[in-house]
Amino acid sequence: MSVRQVDLNDADTFVAGVPHEWFAWLREEDPVHRNPELDGSGFWAVTRYDDVVTVSRDPGLFSSWQGSALVADLPPDDLEGMRLQLIHMDPPEHTALRAIVNRAFTPRMIASLRDHVAELTTEIVDAVAPKGECDFVTEVAAELPLQVIAETLGVPREDRWRLFDWSNRLIGMEDPEYGSEDAAEADITAKVALVEMFQYAHELAERKRTEPAGDLCSVLVHAEVDGRRLTDIEFNMFFFLLVIAGNETTRNLISGGLQALCEHPEARTRLLADPALLPTTVEEMLRWVSPVMQFRRTATRDTELAGREIAQGDKVVVYYGSANRDAGVFGPTADRFDGARAPNNHLAFGFGTHFCLGASLARLEIRTMFAELLGRLPDLELAGAPERLRSSFINGIKHLPVRFTPAP
Ligand code: HEM
Repeated sequence: MSVRQVDLNDADTFVAGVPHEWFAWLREEDPVHRNPELDGSGFWAVTRYDDVVTVSRDPGLFSSWQGSALVADLPPDDLEGMRLQLIHMDPPEHTALRAIVNRAFTPRMIASLRDHVAELTTEIVDAVAPKGECDFVTEVAAELPLQVIAETLGVPREDRWRLFDWSNRLIGMEDPEYGSEDAAEADITAKVALVEMFQYAHELAERKRTEPAGDLCSVLVHAEVDGRRLTDIEFNMFFFLLVIAGNETTRNLISGGLQALCEHPEARTRLLADPALLPTTVEEMLRWVSPVMQFRRTATRDTELAGREIAQGDKVVVYYGSANRDAGVFGPTADRFDGARAPNNHLAFGFGTHFCLGASLARLEIRTMFAELLGRLPDLELAGAPERLRSSFINGIKHLPVRFTPAP
């Protein structure tokens, strides 16, 4: 084998970048690959498009609830808590809870946000445009999803950096800037962030009970699932999910998408000449970056996948970014960035039961941001190497120095 074998469970593997060569080798030679774990039983890494779809469409056989959707095996108490969260549920519990939040994320609701998202985006770009340089992640890419999710939830605008901080410490717990490379210390970082976030969520829920507004938290505290209200802990878990899912992912798509445009000047030139191509290019950014690298399922009975025997209780991890470069689906140009790629049925938002609740919102934010950037800072370029997040879960960039001709 000429390609270097890497451990997909080791956060260090991803610091230099997603190991696309290894994924390409796996898709070809060992598409359902046994990845050992130092602190667990090991898992099956599913790397081909069709197999990722097969796993994602069958929650009865590949459960998100049994061992949660996270690769690490959780202590029983933590697992029980996690299972109160939508993303770690199976139908029918999942269906009932998802119906409540679906209402806040319908395409019509999202369309009604269009003008407001545009205003927020203009303000964000106003703040950096005269400077000629900035940290693109903290000053641009992080701002829009944070402001939007804070408003959607009904969190006061000035508190949005607390959401940023909790999210960094939870998703970045294994990163030395936000947490620690030491597993025990990383665990403490995440737990402390969680306690702070739950305390905040609790106080927010109290406020929304007495002074309901039109926001999602007000909906959640008053909603009934199966004839009863959400408990405190159920509300907290929802808040936790939306804070993370609503900001970390979109932020990294905007940063990674900009990096892709800078590294593929022909795509940017084409986009500047034909702005109608933007939605298509955004889909290609989603495919290319795949900000969420993986989620886990647990087999509920013995089965077979791509010729491999999977035993009941085995962990099965689907790799979206690998599926998104499968030449069987995307053809011989699968490993090229093509801003005009169509069709582009990527799996960046997952597939099936847990298909991303925020996909329409994320698309709106990303398109609006790139339309503004291309219009006002068309010569934006990288002014240094991206600093990547140490994580085996999120394909993240922490800092991205950029420069551009200052604009009013
Ligand atoms: C580029 C941005 C985004 C990407 C790449 C992304 C990716 C994903 C993926 C891959 C899943 C599937 C999880 C699974 O199958 O286990 C998912 C689920 C989810 N996403 Fe997103 N997401 C993004 C933005 C957002 C936003 C903006 C929100 C909320 C405001 C959001 C909320 C959720 C929620 C609540 C779920 C769980 C849905 C369920 O379990 O039914 N996401 N997302």
